[in-house]
Amino acid sequence: MSSGLVTAAYIVAAILFIFSLAGLSKQETAKNGCYYGIAGMAIALFATIFSENTAGLGWIIIAMALGAAIGIYKAQKVEMTEMPELIALLHSFVGLAAVLVGFNSFIEPGNMPSEMHTIHLIEVFLGVFIGAVTFTGSLVAFGKLNGRLKSKPLQLPHRHKLNLAALVLSFLLLTGFVGADGSWPALVVMTLIALAFGWHLVASIGGADMPVVVSMLNSYSGWAAAAAGFMLGNDLLIVTGALVGSSGAILSYIMCQAMNRSFISVIAGGFGTDGSSAVSDSGEVGEYREAKPAEVAEMLKNADSVIITPGYGMAVAQAQYPVAEIVELLRRNGTQVRFGIHPVAGRLPGHMNVLLAEAKVPYDIVLEMDEINDDFAGTDVVLVIGANDTVNPAAQTDPGSPIAGMPVLEVWKAKEVVVFKRSMNTGYAGVQNPLFFNENSVMCFGDAKASIDGILAALK
Ligand code: TAP
Repeated sequence: MSSGLVTAAYIVAAILFIFSLAGLSKQETAKNGCYYGIAGMAIALFATIFSENTAGLGWIIIAMALGAAIGIYKAQKVEMTEMPELIALLHSFVGLAAVLVGFNSFIEPGNMPSEMHTIHLIEVFLGVFIGAVTFTGSLVAFGKLNGRLKSKPLQLPHRHKLNLAALVLSFLLLTGFVGADGSWPALVVMTLIALAFGWHLVASIGGADMPVVVSMLNSYSGWAAAAAGFMLGNDLLIVTGALVGSSGAILSYIMCQAMNRSFISVIAGGFGTDGSSAVSDSGEVGEYREAKPAEVAEMLKNADSVIITPGYGMAVAQAQYPVAEIVELLRRNGTQVRFGIHPVAGRLPGHMNVLLAEAKVPYDIVLEMDEINDDFAGTDVVLVIGANDTVNPAAQTDPGSPIAGMPVLEVWKAKEVVVFKRSMNTGYAGVQNPLFFNENSVMCFGDAKASIDGILAALK
């Protein structure tokens, strides 16, 4: 393909990517958003592979076949609840790719006018830096999300000073690198510092703040891709990287607002956790009452209004289908039933909305936290299905809690609250939940799907 045709294809692909992002911003149009993205990527790949400047087609096809096989296998196998960790792992690949492209571009800069040489060196240095930070940061996020690493924040002494020192040192190395017209020692030392910096940045963030970290790493991976685009002289990679980088930054900003965190401290890393909040409390704090599914069914029969607040446990148990059936039954009997969705319920943005849509729950009874929070006080029964951190009153009452300041669903204000979980274990943030010990709360222990099935049987 001639370079003119390739440029035209790149423009079409970039437009499709913008449509894709627009589509993904709403649940109803998300599927189309995916199709636009797939079409854009197919065009981009075709134009790049068959461009007149591309050599080694055989190698590219072998690499793509291998990558596609692994990708298809993974995509078929991955559970919805494992998506964030998969995304974190994929971000780490983008970071690693930017590091490798940077080294390659330093070894073989290609033909460029001499006045571009300094700019190229800066591109290489920054590309490797962003890529290395994204690589290790994403690996730590992957480990924390799949439970291989503890979600508790790492509290090294002088951690903020360490971060600052890493940045200052990297800047000094940049000046040395450019001044020496490219120097391997400077590049390698900076890479090691950036790897340690990325690792430390994410390791010092606690479990409850992981959603923001994932979207922040999403943004970093976009900038890493854009940096690789500069080094390779590939306009589409620059545009795509910038789109991912800026949309990730916007998402991080929205999530920071939802979680009541400062955006600046997020991008600086290690936010939201001073010494006191690092101590999580997993001990029990009083007595709790238990109820069997048949008793919960009785409560529901007598209720005029019900709110359901689902969380990660509903996703694990795949309880959304019997939940949808219960909702239909209750609504047929004239009970007002609504859902209250916390912005970070589950393990990925929109997680609960997707599950409920899958089970064909009508959109108009699925409300965001801000839309429903004032209504708990006038509600008869709240069903907390596999949610924990997102309904924890300690966020409002305990300033030393790791989740202090995070907005939560104020379920405890309802007349009766039923909590579905398997044990008295803590949620993702590792903090005990005083809600479970309230006088108006009862615990319905067991796998959420089994418990909801039990209620459904009793209701029928
Ligand atoms: P969590 O606080 O994670 O609590 C989930 C609860 O579900 C656990 O206490 C667990 O208790 C219960 N559970 C697990 N499997 C179950 C099953 N099969 N049946 C019944 N219960 C089950 O949930 P949440 O309220 O949704 O909060 C989400 C947390 O994840 C927040 O801390 C958030 O910051 C974090 N996070 C969110 C995201 C995004 S973007 N949404 C990404 C990463 C992290 P038992 O073990 O006792 O059953």
